[in-house]
Amino acid sequence: TADKETLTAEINRLKKEKNAVIVAHYYQQDEVQEIADVVGDSFALSKYCANNDADVIVFCGVHFMAESAKILSPEKTVYLAEARSGCPMADMVTADDVKRLRREHPEAAVVCYVNSSAETKAECDVCCTSSNAVQIVRALEQKEVLFIPDKNLGSYVASQVPEKTVIPYEGFCYTHNKITVEEVDEVMALHPDAELAVHPECRGEILDRADFVGSTAQIIDHCTKSDSRTFIIGTEMGVLYELKKRNPDKKFYLLTPRFVCPNMKHTRLYSVYNALAKGQYEIEVDEDIRVRALGSLERMLELGN
Ligand code: 13P
Ligand code: SF4
Repeated sequence: TADKETLTAEINRLKKEKNAVIVAHYYQQDEVQEIADVVGDSFALSKYCANNDADVIVFCGVHFMAESAKILSPEKTVYLAEARSGCPMADMVTADDVKRLRREHPEAAVVCYVNSSAETKAECDVCCTSSNAVQIVRALEQKEVLFIPDKNLGSYVASQVPEKTVIPYEGFCYTHNKITVEEVDEVMALHPDAELAVHPECRGEILDRADFVGSTAQIIDHCTKSDSRTFIIGTEMGVLYELKKRNPDKKFYLLTPRFVCPNMKHTRLYSVYNALAKGQYEIEVDEDIRVRALGSLERMLELGN
């Protein structure tokens, strides 16, 4: 529509004027992925934000992602395109919880999924994303590892790194954790030849049935390289945009229509425009917390890829 064209033109003009980049997660609305300069999983977006020469980052995702961008690039102005976009999982563990866990397990390393606040990251030894959690836990020298906050990713890591004692915390993602194994069996019966690719935030019994487990970017990459023609996708519906774009000849079925993260869907094209035009919603991180959280993120960037 003309509206979309006008908004797109204005966004592109403002972007040049402010030397801004638009960064979006794969769960964003199609129109947002379309306008973004870079779209990726949590790990790729962190890496990108640490290494580019823009003055302004407009983050289209959820709060912890924009906060990580600010931690990695304090000299840049970082806007979260929609202020309401939080990740409930990130609020399921606090810095005080980590301090308590450390007292209870003084020998353990604390590994913190990036879906967490800056305050929590500041109390941990190293961060990870769903793309490198196994690799990071394996690389640690400690035998005992506290994994926060996601119990499903933590249990998956425990199963992949049996030589360590991995103790998962009790957090979870509403969007991924609510999917049941009955739904999986039903859709697999409808498409017996399909490969099942799922995100490790799903429950263990679902991961057990999967042909592939990985981050959003890894799922997209896997389905693109695979010889299979049909896939059942076990993560948020937003990934279908990139999957279909890269693989117009393959068939993708979402595991269930309930696979929607409402927090990710607040952001629209006009949110991106407003972020640039009005300078909203700026992310700030207290410097003491930022420096300590940066330590955990930098350690992840050193250990994982
Ligand atoms: P990815 O790092 O796999 O993109 O996942 C982020 C996320 O929030 C999953 O729910
Ligand atoms: Fe958070 Fe789950 Fe949404 Fe990912 S899908 S941003 S973990 S609520």
